[in-house]
Amino acid sequence: MPTPTTLRNVLAPAKLNTFLHITGRRPDGYHLLQSVFMLIDWCDTLNFELRTDGQITRNDINPSTTGPLPTIDLTVRAALALQAATGTQLGAHIELEKHIPSQAGMGGGSSDAASCLIALNRLWGLNLQRAQLQEIAQKLGADVPFFLLGGHGWVEGIGEKITPIELPKAQFLVVKPKSGVATPLIFSDPLLKRDTEAATITDFAAQPKSEVYSFGHNDLQPVAQVHCPEISKALNWLGGHGLKGRMTGSGSTVFAQMLSNVDLPKAPTGWQIRICSNLEKHPLVGWLAG
Ligand code: C5P
Repeated sequence: MPTPTTLRNVLAPAKLNTFLHITGRRPDGYHLLQSVFMLIDWCDTLNFELRTDGQITRNDINPSTTGPLPTIDLTVRAALALQAATGTQLGAHIELEKHIPSQAGMGGGSSDAASCLIALNRLWGLNLQRAQLQEIAQKLGADVPFFLLGGHGWVEGIGEKITPIELPKAQFLVVKPKSGVATPLIFSDPLLKRDTEAATITDFAAQPKSEVYSFGHNDLQPVAQVHCPEISKALNWLGGHGLKGRMTGSGSTVFAQMLSNVDLPKAPTGWQIRICSNLEKHPLVGWLAG
C-alpha cells in the first residue's frame, strides 16, 4: 500500500491524572511520581501534508488559550527529532487546531507532539515501533511517552515507566478556570510535598470499581492552589454542584466524576467547562506497531 501524502483530522486527546503522588526527586531536579494518566475525549486536531523539500512548517488554525504558540513549538520539535533519529529527507506542513486548554495540566502540548510522531511515522513510511517512538518522545517532555501507549496508563519514574491499565467507563465534569499554571513553578516550589509513600499497581487494582476515581490525591494541588486561587474557586464551584473535585497534573484544570446525567451548569465568564468521557483507547492506536 503506498504511503499517504496527507493525513487529516488526526486526533490528539487530553489526559486527566486521576491521582498524582510525588515520591521523591532525582539529582537533576525532576520529580519521581506515581500517577494514573487517563485519556479523555477533549481533543486537538492536526493535519499533515507531505513536503519533499525536507522543511517542517506549521500554522495554527485557531490560537491556543494562552495566545500564539512559538514557531518552533513541541509539534515542530517532535518532527525535527523524528527526522534526526531516522535521517529521512522528507518534511511536512503541520496544521494545528487547538481545543485543549493550555497551562491546564491536561497534557495538550505533549499529546500534540505524540500524535505528530505517530502521524509522521506513517506519512514518512518510517515503520518505527512504539518503543522507538517513545525513546524520541522522552526527550521532548516527561508526559509525551504516555501518549504513545495507546490507552490509559499507570505511570512512574519521571513519566517514562508506563504500564497499561483498564479503567471503568466514566464521565467527568472538567473545569478549566480562566488562569493557567506554569508547570515548572509548581514543581520547584519549596512547599511541595515530595515524600508520599509509594503505592503499587496492585493497591490500585484492588479498589472497588466505585472508588477507582477517589484513589490517592494530587500532591501538586495544594501548591497550585496557592499560586492560582482560581483553582480553589473552581473546586468550590464543583462542590456547589454536589461534586468532589480534584486537580489534574500541575493545574489549573479540575474535574469530578459525574455519577448521574446532569445538564451542563453555567460557569463564570472565561472558564471552559465540558462533560468528558474517558476513552477506551487512543484514537491513533491502529497506527502504532509493537
Ligand atoms: O518534561 P516537561 O517539559 O513536560 O516538564 C516541565 C517541567 O516540569 C520540568 O521542567 C520540571 O520542572 C517539571 N517536572 C518535574 N518532574 C517531572 C515532570 C516535570 O520536575 N516528573
